[in-house]
Amino acid sequence: MKDAIHNVQQEIANYTLANIQDTEKFRIEFLGSKGKIKDLFGLLKSVPNEEKKQVGQTLNELRILAEEKWNQAKAQFENTSTKSEGIDLTRTPEDALIGSRHPLSLVRSEIIELFNRIGFTVSEGPEIEDDWHNFSALNFPPEHPARDMQDTFFIQKGEKEMALRTHTSSVQVRVMENSKPPIRTISPGRVYRNEAISARAHCFFHQVEGLYIDENVSFADLKQTLLYFAKEMFGEKAEIRLRPSYFPFTEPSAEVDVSCTICNAKGCNVCKYSGWLEILGCGMVDPNVLEASGIDSKKYTGFAFGMGIERIAQLKYRVNDLRLYSENDVRFLNQFTPGV
Ligand code: DAH
Repeated sequence: MKDAIHNVQQEIANYTLANIQDTEKFRIEFLGSKGKIKDLFGLLKSVPNEEKKQVGQTLNELRILAEEKWNQAKAQFENTSTKSEGIDLTRTPEDALIGSRHPLSLVRSEIIELFNRIGFTVSEGPEIEDDWHNFSALNFPPEHPARDMQDTFFIQKGEKEMALRTHTSSVQVRVMENSKPPIRTISPGRVYRNEAISARAHCFFHQVEGLYIDENVSFADLKQTLLYFAKEMFGEKAEIRLRPSYFPFTEPSAEVDVSCTICNAKGCNVCKYSGWLEILGCGMVDPNVLEASGIDSKKYTGFAFGMGIERIAQLKYRVNDLRLYSENDVRFLNQFTPGV
């Protein structure tokens, strides 16, 4: 009998309980109604009377030992299983969905950053603008078509008729009114035009205006600045071409083309087989505009330029429909997730 007790004691001590299943098996094997300890208690009958008390005590101790081991293991494994209920802590984590930057924000940031590197600061103005800042101070003649309801959204603000700005050139005027040369600034922002929405036109879009005013600023400075912009934006191979043009607020004025980034200027359907893509308008700030904003046009000269962010994004990412930018279609937007 003593040997039998000793053996079970050893078995209990050596039994490894690694999980809840082991623990249950242990209970059945030692503490169950047909378990080994019960069997030993059954053998108590055959123990001589004078030893019964002693052996009974040893068996009780054995049962307590087994119960303690079982209780401890049970507490341990039940604890972890409630904690991880519904969460498998061993699973490989899935990447959290962090969304993506809008392509127009990406291009806007890139433009700001590359102009920051050559000393341009960022300035902003209101989207609801008065006639002075959007038109008059920029030398628009009274009969200019942009002043027509057909092209511009006008709104009534109290007594005053206001317009949703048609370009960010209005911010130029505000900056010149409020600061003294030297001025080197870019003004990104949203603009509005009364256009029917199609793949190629929208009633709102985004522009970045640039303005540089100081003594002796020349057309060569303008050209060099724009070449720097084109190379930073479209790659070292990019070239620019200036074509004479007209804007009321610049004289002389030019339109700027960049060599086609899609076919490397060889000719394709995007550049209409010309090898060039129009990207912005620019010119030397008209002396009338300087004077209207309180800057001495005899002392200072300057250049300005304006570009559409959608247009730059279109060339960079080959987006061929303007409507995609404002439709919030995640199939479109997801393509701009970093690293995807
Ligand atoms: N404001 C013009 C537009 O919306 C773009 C532009 C052209 C801006 C020439 C300029 C400039 O500053 O010099 O089409």
